[in-house]
Amino acid sequence: MLTAYDYSFARLLDEAGIPILLVGDSLSMVILGYETTLPVSMHDMVRHTQAVVRGTKRALVVGDLPFLSYQPSVEEALRNAGRLLKEGGAQAVKLEGGAPMAATVQRLVESGIPVMGHLGLTPQSVNQLSGWRVQGRSAAGAARLLADAQALAAAGAMSLVLESVPAQVAEAITARLAIPTIGIGAGPGCDGQVQVLHDILGLYPDFTPKHARHYDELGRATTAAVQRYAADVASGTVPGDAETVRSYDPALADLLRDGGPPVPAAPPGGEG
Ligand code: KIV
Repeated sequence: MLTAYDYSFARLLDEAGIPILLVGDSLSMVILGYETTLPVSMHDMVRHTQAVVRGTKRALVVGDLPFLSYQPSVEEALRNAGRLLKEGGAQAVKLEGGAPMAATVQRLVESGIPVMGHLGLTPQSVNQLSGWRVQGRSAAGAARLLADAQALAAAGAMSLVLESVPAQVAEAITARLAIPTIGIGAGPGCDGQVQVLHDILGLYPDFTPKHARHYDELGRATTAAVQRYAADVASGTVPGDAETVRSYDPALADLLRDGGPPVPAAPPGGEG
């Protein structure tokens, strides 16, 4: 699974055979430039989900429910998850949180909405987690994670993202669940893996998590490319012949030779 936020990248990822595209609320940071995932709205999520869906033929598209779009009540969760499917075109939604979210997950699933859970470092709770820290390091923390995972699975979640969790804990949770786990910073023992696309392509300059291997440096490549473009414009080599359209209409040539197109007469009564 990889995150996608727009039509062009969704097309590339889909054509590359990535099976699940997550329109993550990380959109708030990597696309909209906020410091956390908290400010992104339902409107933003629906709009970007629509763009990703338009670029996707094969992959499953999962839309993230943003902060406070599902926590206030089960009814609110149902309405907003429904929007991601009905207006956004997603096939499933993701939400953060453990046992306290089980009733919400159950209601969504009973209403026909597949739900992916998200445990461990849950960025929407960054203010309660004292920052971006690994979760479940202690025995008590790991036991809580396992209980949360089991509660979500029992409520009908189709799969579970485990973020920033020690590898042994993620592996133990994976072994005890019948649904697949998808890890991010949770070691190799999960059933699948997810990354934020901009992290692995070197497109997000603000922060690179330890778990995100860079497969390219598209940020640097973009800077170098646009600098070459600006230099070519400044030196007058762009646009060149290859980028220029010319007309070979002889009448146009005569017209231009005779001093340019005639100036239309002003309408009676001035320009109006
Ligand atoms: O929003 C997001 O990108 C996510 C992934 C990190 C799993 O939730």
